[in-house]
Amino acid sequence: MDNVPNIDDVVQPTHDEHSRQRFVSVLRKHVLTEFAADVRTVYDKRAAPRFTRKHGRAPKTGLEIRKEMKDEPAFQEWIALMQQAQYMTWWSVQPAIERRIPELVQVARAAAAANPTGGSLRLDPSVEIPKTVTELDVHLMPGCFHTEHVTDDVAQGALYHFGTQVFSGGLSHRLRGGWGATTAQFLKIRYPHFRPAKYLDLGCTVGREMFSIMDAFPAAETFAVDVAAPALRYAHARAQALGKTVHFSQQNAERLDFPDNSFDLVTTSFFYHEISVQSGRKIAKEAFRVLKPGGLMINQEMMPVAAAKDPYYDFTADTWNEFYNNEPFVGAFRRQNLRKVFTDAGFKAANYLEIKLPNYGTWPDAVFAACVRGEAVPPEVENGQAWFSFGAWK
Ligand SMILES: C[S@@+](CC[C@H](N)C(=O)[O-])C[C@H]1O[C@@H](n2cnc3c(N)ncnc32)[C@H](O)[C@@H]1O
Repeated sequence: MDNVPNIDDVVQPTHDEHSRQRFVSVLRKHVLTEFAADVRTVYDKRAAPRFTRKHGRAPKTGLEIRKEMKDEPAFQEWIALMQQAQYMTWWSVQPAIERRIPELVQVARAAAAANPTGGSLRLDPSVEIPKTVTELDVHLMPGCFHTEHVTDDVAQGALYHFGTQVFSGGLSHRLRGGWGATTAQFLKIRYPHFRPAKYLDLGCTVGREMFSIMDAFPAAETFAVDVAAPALRYAHARAQALGKTVHFSQQNAERLDFPDNSFDLVTTSFFYHEISVQSGRKIAKEAFRVLKPGGLMINQEMMPVAAAKDPYYDFTADTWNEFYNNEPFVGAFRRQNLRKVFTDAGFKAANYLEIKLPNYGTWPDAVFAACVRGEAVPPEVENGQAWFSFGAWK
């Protein structure tokens, strides 16, 4: 296989830029833990008793808690810091990317021309990018996924790739394992005879979780779809350097051009909360159409459905993302009946699947396997970070 330069190596932060990135990772972790704990104290000591005095009962939903908390200075300070840390995440990687845009484009072009993996990149400028991508900078990422600054641009792919590493810095569940590896292990343990021959990832961006799934099923012929050309170019160049054969195409996942009954496995990750409920329903239908009988659609989300934990959890998860992080669909996504989304799409109710899994790699393999089999989950796992997955077998 011809060697092509790894596009990830083109972006080299300076010493000061690297320090700034580390600082932002630590700041984010601090705000997510220490500051969030202060907000919880204010809720327990002041806002919750005040609500109970007014209504004669405790708050039942995250929305009720939001109304009670929105004027609390501790909450306002926490949101301001969360938002600032989120902006700083992207700003901390932008300069190193921007000064190398010509080289990034050149490496992506060379990788596409050499194409040593035999994969492909099919771009279609006539694809209308959904308003949910064009009308706001999702999770405050400047330029979102799709903006093109120069011809054949890849910068937004690079921004997502490097920015999310700063975002996750210090959060071990994102670095070890991740959803892709966790799901692949889940499938291998729970469904040992499942061997997908044809695999499709929707909303792939730069392919992070998809590449981990491919590691577990190396024989699967793999296809990946996104609406954002810069992300697809970057992903295709990465695939060349990583030796992964993937057929990338620019398509709206609501209207795929693949024939019926094509795939054994369809995945999405960090995707459903960023699209409207209506779009999510269309995509579940489209997945049903392109899946072969006996195939599986499995999706990942960061947060379980509403009320799966408690109203306070819903308050923090939804309020931050919906109102301050340009992810306006999070609450609606979490409050919908996901089983119904899949049965309306054509899947049988008995084939619907919903599971919370600890991160593969964080816990000993025996603990992970016990969780996959549905045996007793140790409280430290139950209370720790877990991946929420949902989907259905056709
Ligand atoms: C948060 S990213 C997904 C991250 C990715 N799965 C990973 O492994 O890192 C969401 C992606 O979905 C894409 N997207 C949004 N709506 C879409 C649609 N209707 N069809 C296809 N892609 C879409 C966006 O362009 C973006 O790249």
